[in-house]
Amino acid sequence: MKKTIRDVDPAGKRVLVRVDFNVPVDKAGAITDDSRIRGALPTIRYLLDKGATVILASHFGRPKGGPEEKYRLTEVGRRLQELLGLPVRKLADCVGPAVKEAVDRAGQGEVILLENVRFHPEEEKNDPGFARQLAELADLYVNDAFGAAHRAHASTTGVAQYLPAVAGLLMEREIRALGEILEDPRRPFLAIIGGAKVSDKIGVLESLVEKVDTLVIGGGMANTFFLARGWSVGKSLSEADEVPVAQRIMERARSKGVEALLPVDVVVASSFSAEAERRVVAPDQIPGDWTALDIGPTSAERFGQAISQAATVFWNGPMGVFELEPFAAGTLAIARAVAAANARTVIGGGDSVAAVEKAGVADQITHISTGGGASLEFIEGKALPGVAALQEK
Ligand code: 3PG
Repeated sequence: MKKTIRDVDPAGKRVLVRVDFNVPVDKAGAITDDSRIRGALPTIRYLLDKGATVILASHFGRPKGGPEEKYRLTEVGRRLQELLGLPVRKLADCVGPAVKEAVDRAGQGEVILLENVRFHPEEEKNDPGFARQLAELADLYVNDAFGAAHRAHASTTGVAQYLPAVAGLLMEREIRALGEILEDPRRPFLAIIGGAKVSDKIGVLESLVEKVDTLVIGGGMANTFFLARGWSVGKSLSEADEVPVAQRIMERARSKGVEALLPVDVVVASSFSAEAERRVVAPDQIPGDWTALDIGPTSAERFGQAISQAATVFWNGPMGVFELEPFAAGTLAIARAVAAANARTVIGGGDSVAAVEKAGVADQITHISTGGGASLEFIEGKALPGVAALQEK
């Protein structure tokens, strides 16, 4: 068990809080989903109530080792200020004399947002000198960035060498919710794994097949499982070199008595476009120059039935190209089925989160993780460096 902010006294202290404000934005830079900012509010409010000065640090996007306008945290700071209902002072950098001075001048109850830590290449290198500079801003370090906990960077792990390091409330909630389904799932335990590629999800598939009672596979990755059955998939996305992985997963499911469900019908299109001609076909009947872009209605119904019988559900990855309206039905049907299930339901990863939002059922999910890669690595059973670096109780 890791220490949390409830195990320390933050009164009168400067507290460096690593948050994951790496939010999705549209082409104009407007935030399209602020759940990661909302997710950090309980920790920020808790620390302010206890009389701390809060110094927030985050990465945003993947800048190439120097400042880039589109990766500034200005818009994020504005949204945070709106949601918090308190002034947020956004600084122009995250280390250096001007930052140190601004932080030293700040009083209790103030909130400072540092500029994107990835503007310094030392961040991703977990450079000790850079970590020390961050640490010198504060008396206590709180990691609330579950979404970045799979990264061993200066602001997620390095800084914990120089300051007492504890978990924030979001970090605590994520570890509890994901930990519960791994350690003590109510059964039947069903996992739905979708998304484009098997290669992105090998670890999580291999881990889940050992734990679940039912494994549902959909999305582009199902095509590779079709290849493994010797079927051709036309122009659909697939990974021939991952066929042995698909075979191994199916074999393991069989030998463990795990029910593995693949789509029994797919929506195919004459091209990758919302305007393309569409048909529903069996997965062994995909025409040579067509592309499978969604699961079909019979698959959605069967998957939904299985979901309705589960007591624990984990879902990651869409069933098709749901950002194109004609191919959204499968993913939205799964979102509704997960929401309606009389089960503990946990969703990890950006696309599935967007799907439950789009279906209007997000408030009916037990836990929506703010972590994409981090939640998958957690489910794989990997130790997350950002968690490992925190003090034990
Ligand atoms: C995420 O969005 O998964 C996290 O913020 C980590 O971002 P990264 O993949 O750029 O490290």
